[in-house]
Amino acid sequence: MTAAIAPILPETIALAADILNDGGLIAMPTETVYGLAADAANAEAVARIYEAKGRPRFNPLIAHVSSWAMAEAEADFSPLARQCAEAFWPGALTLVLPAKAGGRVSDLARAGLDTIAIRWPAHHAAAALITVFGRPLVAPSANLSGHVSPTRADHVMADLGDRIDLVLDGGPCEVGMESTILGFDGDTPVLLRPGGIPTGLIAEKLGREIRVHSPEDAINAPGQIKSHYSPKARLRLNSDAPEDGEGYLAFGPHNPGGLNLSPGGDLVEAATKLFAMLRALDQRFERIAVAPIPEHGLGEAINDRLKRAAYRADDGAA
Ligand code: TXA
Ligand code: MG
Repeated sequence: MTAAIAPILPETIALAADILNDGGLIAMPTETVYGLAADAANAEAVARIYEAKGRPRFNPLIAHVSSWAMAEAEADFSPLARQCAEAFWPGALTLVLPAKAGGRVSDLARAGLDTIAIRWPAHHAAAALITVFGRPLVAPSANLSGHVSPTRADHVMADLGDRIDLVLDGGPCEVGMESTILGFDGDTPVLLRPGGIPTGLIAEKLGREIRVHSPEDAINAPGQIKSHYSPKARLRLNSDAPEDGEGYLAFGPHNPGGLNLSPGGDLVEAATKLFAMLRALDQRFERIAVAPIPEHGLGEAINDRLKRAAYRADDGAA
């Protein structure tokens, strides 16, 4: 498969929306960088994003919206967060906010967190696509894991051209750098990632100082251990069967009870079920045994997440 590069037209936007509706991936221009977009509500489509990028871990993704109604259905806005969004949206600012109960963004896209990163992009093609699609799109930068973010359609083609169907070509990105990511610690804005909107400008608009995130911060930050969902239960990995009193998370046809990530041994399916099944077992058991997961494809990200979930600061065991 080689992706088609399409100009921005009503019919190519409609085609992109159709592909997304079928659970496919497309690349779309935003004013910051090109994004690899999928239906945020479709966990299987989200799993394919990680697979296409070759991401070794499930970093949480940004949900892109194109209206206040769409944003407010997914996130709880404090008055300060609302003020911030009103000042900079649509634009290159991502806000990390409490995820709303009943929101549609899948827990895989949020990497199991209780927060959601949300942004209303300013690019007319991205906004038009989200509006036609009618639901939030998750979109990490449209590059292979470890490569730089693409700011032109041909950059996307070079990295992902053989992995997706369609690249919407909106020309070079105006900002050329990822969005600024801001979280909140109560009423203190916390900078989680510098980006397209200068921190000083945000501070000025809000009339407040912005704290730069530090590792001691209670708040989640990209790439930091604290940003990872971790169960209360103790996890025992690479186990073929549960011991007395243990819950079991199975994978594949060997199924000694418990919940099964994918009886057919499909790693994409397993990724879509991982967080929900961990949470369900965590509610019922103090100890959870987990089947061995193959280390190829999405297995690498699943194992990364399981190892982090198994790690306990109190015993240092992995
Ligand atoms: O400009 C951008 O932001 C581009 C365009 C496509 O919108 N997107 C982008 O996405 O840069 P990505 O996935 O490359 O970076 C998103 C960052 C990651 O570092 C992730 O860890 C962080 O956002 N993030 C997402 N959800 C989060 C959350 N709930 N808490 C903390 N960090 C979060
Ligand atoms: Mg990126």
